[in-house]
Amino acid sequence: MKNNSRISGFYKFNLKEKIEKISECANLTKEDIEVLKTGGLSLEKADKVIENVIGLFNLPFGVALNFLINNKDYIIPMTVEEPSVVAAASHAAKIIRDCGGFVTDSDESIMIGQIQVVNCENFEESKQEILERKDEIINLANKIEPQMFKRGGGAKDVEVRILGDKKVYPYSKMLIVHLLIDVKDAMGANLINSMVEGVSSLIEEISHGKVYLKILSNLTDKRLARAKTIIFPKALQTKDYRGEEIIEGILQAYYFAYLDPYRASTHNKGVMNGIDPVVIATGNDWRAIEAGAHAYACRKGNYLPLTTWERDDIGNLVGYIEIPMAVGIVGGATKLHPISQIALKILGVKSARELGEVIACVGLAQNLTAIKALATEGIQRGHMALHARSVALTAGAKGEIVDIIAKELINQKNIKVDKAKEILENMLQSKI
Ligand code: MEV
Repeated sequence: MKNNSRISGFYKFNLKEKIEKISECANLTKEDIEVLKTGGLSLEKADKVIENVIGLFNLPFGVALNFLINNKDYIIPMTVEEPSVVAAASHAAKIIRDCGGFVTDSDESIMIGQIQVVNCENFEESKQEILERKDEIINLANKIEPQMFKRGGGAKDVEVRILGDKKVYPYSKMLIVHLLIDVKDAMGANLINSMVEGVSSLIEEISHGKVYLKILSNLTDKRLARAKTIIFPKALQTKDYRGEEIIEGILQAYYFAYLDPYRASTHNKGVMNGIDPVVIATGNDWRAIEAGAHAYACRKGNYLPLTTWERDDIGNLVGYIEIPMAVGIVGGATKLHPISQIALKILGVKSARELGEVIACVGLAQNLTAIKALATEGIQRGHMALHARSVALTAGAKGEIVDIIAKELINQKNIKVDKAKEILENMLQSKI
């Protein structure tokens, strides 16, 4: 990347200038820009992606700036409909950048394929036999997907658990086999499902049981991404609040989420506000990421926040996130949607793990802005300015008029489409 992701005053650029600037930073071609302007997916292509297609549904594609991760600059592509998400991510990333940025790490891309076995005569014996013959199972799985094996990935290990108690519920005793598969730079769903289906007869033969479900698990807790940041109080200071006061508020917000699942749910929604848009922009499966995130948030038996916030010995704020991250940069939808390829180009990531780590940073940043605002002035002030713009757009305003109407709606403290229509009509009347 030619430029860093700190582009001062970017939000004030007009649309054309914004596109030009990011194209320059990410070396986008004329064709890339055309794809961005049109939304990328044609009706004909969409018709091959899902069933019963009757149209296209576009969403805004923006970029969050200021992300400094492991001393490398990233421009973050985000596909999202909610106003203020992109601005909030950029805002937190700027604060974090001024304190040295994010540090990240992640696990290998190990996914879990599950095989459910029932009706074993002796579950303990079946478990032992499967474990004793695990090399045979792994070899067979790797023959099913030889390309992944050649790339150094593929099936690596087998784990077995016995669940349930037949005395309590008739259907409840089962043996669950986990095939651990390194999917490298892919998300891996198809590969995993082929492997577990491919070894199921062998599992039946070994266990003397009956196999029912063969499917990947979305609780990808062996494929976690982590990000950490240390923020000095001074970097948080605003004209109304001292940095120490803001840190105190953020800690109060964090403990609220830690103690109360009603709040943790909203706290985590704020985290996912950052994560999903990057997952979508890069063509990854956001339902899988959502499922994994919320299951992981429950791993201790109660629903907890996905981020943690602490104060260190010298009064700095320390933020941390650890989250399952089954994202890929090859195969699947990353190839299917023309914009996904451009998103990956803008990001400049070289591996699925790097992408996952960047996404974790965006989640942490998004959460910081949300709880910082909530613990101080509240979110409505910042939110309303952007909300007013979408209300003005809905009312039919175009170009510069959008901002004029948005400002008027805020002044009148009445951000409603009817009001925006009234102001627009008055403006048009007075022009005639
Ligand atoms: C709104 O989309 C997200 C927030 O509710 C998150 C939070 O409460 O932490 C602001």
